[in-house]
Amino acid sequence: MRLNLFILLIIASLLGACNQKHELAPLKLIPYPAELEQSADVLSIPAKELTISLKDESIKEILSSQLATEHQIKLVDADEALIRFVKLNDDALPAEAYRLKVNDKGVLIEASERSGHLYAAQTLRQLITLNKGRVEIPHVSISDYPRFAWRGMHFDVSRHFFSVDEVKQFLDYMYMNKLNVFHWHLVDDQGWRLEIKKYPKLTEVGAWREHVGFNANQAKGLNEKYTEAYGGYYTQADVKEIVAYASERNITIVPEIELPGHSAAALVAYPEYYCNNAGELKIWDQAGVSAGVYCAGKESTFQFLEDVLSETMELFPGEFIHIGGDETPKDTWLACPDCRKRMKQENAHDEHELQSYFVHRIEKFLNKHDRRLIGWDEILDGGLAQSAAVMSWRGVAGGVKAAEAGHDVVMTPMFPYYFNHTQNHLPTSPGHPGISTLRDVYTFPSIPQDISADKRQHVIGVQANLWSEYMPLFKHIEHNLFPRVYALAEVAWSPAIREWDDFHQRVKLTLPMLEKHGVKAGEISYHVRINVSPNYENKTADIEFVTERSNPVYYTIDCSEPTTNSQVYKAPFVLEADAHIKACQFKRDGSTTYISEKQLIFHKAFGKPYELKYAYAPQYDGGGRYGLTNGFLGVEVGVEEKPIDLVIDLGEVTEISHINSRFKNAPLSWVFGPQKVSYHVSATGDEYTNVAVFEPGVTESDVNEIVQYPIDFKPTKVRYVHIVAESVGVCPSWHPAAGGKAWLFSDEVIVK
Ligand code: ACM
Ligand code: ZN
Repeated sequence: MRLNLFILLIIASLLGACNQKHELAPLKLIPYPAELEQSADVLSIPAKELTISLKDESIKEILSSQLATEHQIKLVDADEALIRFVKLNDDALPAEAYRLKVNDKGVLIEASERSGHLYAAQTLRQLITLNKGRVEIPHVSISDYPRFAWRGMHFDVSRHFFSVDEVKQFLDYMYMNKLNVFHWHLVDDQGWRLEIKKYPKLTEVGAWREHVGFNANQAKGLNEKYTEAYGGYYTQADVKEIVAYASERNITIVPEIELPGHSAAALVAYPEYYCNNAGELKIWDQAGVSAGVYCAGKESTFQFLEDVLSETMELFPGEFIHIGGDETPKDTWLACPDCRKRMKQENAHDEHELQSYFVHRIEKFLNKHDRRLIGWDEILDGGLAQSAAVMSWRGVAGGVKAAEAGHDVVMTPMFPYYFNHTQNHLPTSPGHPGISTLRDVYTFPSIPQDISADKRQHVIGVQANLWSEYMPLFKHIEHNLFPRVYALAEVAWSPAIREWDDFHQRVKLTLPMLEKHGVKAGEISYHVRINVSPNYENKTADIEFVTERSNPVYYTIDCSEPTTNSQVYKAPFVLEADAHIKACQFKRDGSTTYISEKQLIFHKAFGKPYELKYAYAPQYDGGGRYGLTNGFLGVEVGVEEKPIDLVIDLGEVTEISHINSRFKNAPLSWVFGPQKVSYHVSATGDEYTNVAVFEPGVTESDVNEIVQYPIDFKPTKVRYVHIVAESVGVCPSWHPAAGGKAWLFSDEVIVK
């Protein structure tokens, strides 16, 4: 009896092995195709017999070189080839679409345009594995086409300069991921990188700064050397070569010529286009926005810009020219007689309408040359011509507004699509502070639900941006691009995102291939994202933890450090009382890389509405309407230059005896604690009683801390609480960006 059972077990396990053999081979396909069927069979041939018939030499050359890098295999030309690329005249196969079939006979690829063949070649590359000298390709039937027409990657070569070869490498990475728009950020306050024949000083002067700069990089050991002069630029011959290289990979380049702001490099070279008497400019070597803005009053400014744009249009054949338009420092205009005169002439009521005049005028010029203008979402302020397109970077609000107004929109909200933010908490990771994980990118809803259904077609695509302040070397760019670009690619290409685990698995299968290309990708994090959904009516909050890795999450709610004896997270839960959550995952060696935390306080202003005298920046909205009263700490509301001045309505007369307000103080990020904080209360909203004044001032330091101003007082019956936190306004004289607009950030006002 026992023996029989033993035999049965052996048979069962053998059956299991057989079944396994019939399991579908894992596919390392990113982006995942629109339609795919797979059978358990696999085409298997000796690597030496990998024959191909493909007329397009350039596609063949790219694919050959990739397969040589990834598997040391060579493609052999043949008429009766194993891999056949065929061109069809088929309406069902528009540009970029293709079909790919693998069976015992070989691989058949059909497309009606070259771009379809190009993308099919990348799918084929990903399907190929090498096993003991044999090439194996799973039997699949794929019909594939992109979700979005604009699948973009941006690259800032002003803050740091990257060589022609590095730019080409960047384009290779885009092509491998079926991305097709390269947004080339060629000019900014820190350097002008495009040769313009008519204005040679733009590159003779504007491409060079005193130091590589960005001191935080120096401190972190990211710079190779701290040279005397730093810079570089692309000659027009370089640009032609890069445009052709991109075009071979179905990539259109959208050049960005920033205006009217972010223009110190141009204005140091040609100060005559700056407002008179506006002071000295220098080419910046630190982060932030300089005062450099083109004078909107002088006709010669527009002549200069039209000349620059004319040469730019000659170099870049694409439909769109990006004109920046973000973060324009407008104070200079207000003090300039020429700009004042222009405002009067054009009936511009304020500096925002002057910016609108500026952008409109440039737009007309581009339209006259059959090009379309695209700019950052600030270009919406003051109205915009219908054909202009908008890049939504300060969150999604600009995208919603633009689409509702009928403008085409590219979604590139800084969270999660700014890849200069780090993707994990390792102290060695280059990039801006703030975390945007692979999973954040993968799961972010790329078409905002707030856009009406009949306007959603205006979202023409998605894009991720790489601002290079804190990535001085190309290896840092690669580190921050990968693996997140895989998530972007799938969001941009595939009709629907898939389960996280499915995607994560494919990323893990793909990374070894990437290593063969010499890329060191950023580590997938052990970060636990703590999502809090406050329920203001019940005075509770729903808590959910989201991770990239499937390791268990251990957590506490009493501020103690989690250990492997702590509670294990199973499912979302509800908190009904104050808590300080700490959560983490442990590595196999028992260590943890980061402990996430979030503090919840169900205080008397929890979920109460308030009015802010000065609006917060859309990209720092603290999570929305209740950002300052949502009960949890650490998600910030940011106001530029102006005070945070708010009146909270508690809804009814309530007894209170404690107020606390919390601010960030991180001067090197241009964020300063308040100069002065005062609290006032009122039962009626007419007469207020002052209950506290703090005057901390602002002192020189390089800290990154939270400062808070708690006060206890005798129980008082009030309905309205008025808080005024005064900003330092502009960065003080000791600051590397002295005179630049300062930020004031608060995460919560606590009333008990
Ligand atoms: C931007 O990040 N200033 C577009
Ligand atoms: Zn002016």
